[in-house]
Amino acid sequence: MKALVVGGGAREHCIAEALAKDGAEIFCAMKNRNPGLARLSKDVLYASETDVAKVVEYAKSKSVEIAIIGPEAPLEEGLVDELAKAEIPSVGPTKSCARLETSKSFTRSLLDKYHIPGNPRHSVFRAPDGLREFIREFGEYVVKDEGLCGGKGVRLSGEHLATVDDGVRYAEECIGKSGAVVVEEKLIGEEFSIQCLCDGRTVAGSPLAQDHKRAYEGDTGPNTGGMGSYSDANHLLPFLDNDDYGEALDITQKVCDAIRQECGEPYKGVMYGGFIATAEGVRLIENNARYADPEVMNVLPLLESSALELFSAVVDGKLREGMGSYARKATVCKYVVPRGYGTKSEAGVPITVDETAIQA
Ligand code: AMP
Ligand code: GLY
Repeated sequence: MKALVVGGGAREHCIAEALAKDGAEIFCAMKNRNPGLARLSKDVLYASETDVAKVVEYAKSKSVEIAIIGPEAPLEEGLVDELAKAEIPSVGPTKSCARLETSKSFTRSLLDKYHIPGNPRHSVFRAPDGLREFIREFGEYVVKDEGLCGGKGVRLSGEHLATVDDGVRYAEECIGKSGAVVVEEKLIGEEFSIQCLCDGRTVAGSPLAQDHKRAYEGDTGPNTGGMGSYSDANHLLPFLDNDDYGEALDITQKVCDAIRQECGEPYKGVMYGGFIATAEGVRLIENNARYADPEVMNVLPLLESSALELFSAVVDGKLREGMGSYARKATVCKYVVPRGYGTKSEAGVPITVDETAIQA
């Protein structure tokens, strides 16, 4: 089977490895050369992943049969919609369904409208009126930019925002930039993520993982796209039980059903839930419309059944609950990042990796 992997990071390398195990013929569209991914690919298009016309043309010219979209930016650009016009099915939602990730207010409102549990107390502002009063009421709160910020658009009171003035200023900045801001209750608890596959009706879970997003040791400093992550051999995490997993899966199933109704089309792809286990139960921090970086690396290398079979079931609407079998092993992923990562990365500094030395 000819599979197109869109994206050129560690996440996409990991997806390609899973496909290669199945003997898929891999094509890749990436902006910069990822040597590991290039090695696995039969052919590579070096182009921006958001250059929809170029990527679709490439996919057609290679007679690709399925596309797996790694990052969120091409989803927002409508790549999946355009591939569909060329009769190329994608593991990845349409532009409309991808609002689950690309619009923070969309997801909060969806949960409210369809009475899905898991929302923290929140409000969406499109103008500064009432912001200060709302923030003051909370004490501890979180300000989230409405749009995509690579995991860096969220600021927490007591950590990144010292005073009410700081909160108001940042919220106004978000409104100026993205047209809206979400202000919500700051939840206390351990975070975990679940990466479900979704065919529009059924969701299939995978081992849980915990991502560490803060830039510095001891979970401090600015939020980054991710610094590292781990998963446990029993597919839960040390602070969770089966009921917590069940709650998170139930929320994901309800979101899958709600979004089909809301958008009038099935959500096909990865539905990522970032959750937090609070003293009052499981709450949803965010949804993403793709595999997570780095948590995909805690999950896909454990897959013992066929990745192609899973991805085909997603696009064909033939997913079954519990589909996909994952090895009972613990995993750890740790990032090597440029100096300044999370605030202002130093660019152009070579990183040398001794691939043989780190082979398991
Ligand atoms: P997000 O981009 O929504 O995943 O947020 C990035 C990080 O900010 C999360 O992984 C959490 O650590 C933190 N965060 C986001 N929303 C909340 C919340 N309501 N309460 C506490 N922490 C949050
Ligand atoms: N690790 C969370 C994300 O990919 O957004």
